[in-house]
Amino acid sequence: MADPKHGTAPIVVEETPGKKAYCTCGHSANLPYCDGAHSREQTGLAPMVVEIEEPCQKAICQCHQSGSMPFCDGSHKNL
Ligand code: FES
Repeated sequence: MADPKHGTAPIVVEETPGKKAYCTCGHSANLPYCDGAHSREQTGLAPMVVEIEEPCQKAICQCHQSGSMPFCDGSHKNL
């Protein structure tokens, strides 16, 4: 995972069902979602794609230390 360039706190989103591509490179202008910047900036990284089954609130990890990627597990509190 890339170094966080945007802070380490999770981004909380109200998710809707469907396939989501979460940014792992930290360069997206639309965090926590991928906007293709990983390719434009040749990071060598790819988004993490997850299927959301039903409407829910999710905390998306931004510190890249979670053991439950792409979701926050509280690891940012130990940085
Ligand atoms: S923009 Fe970061 S993974 Fe796609």
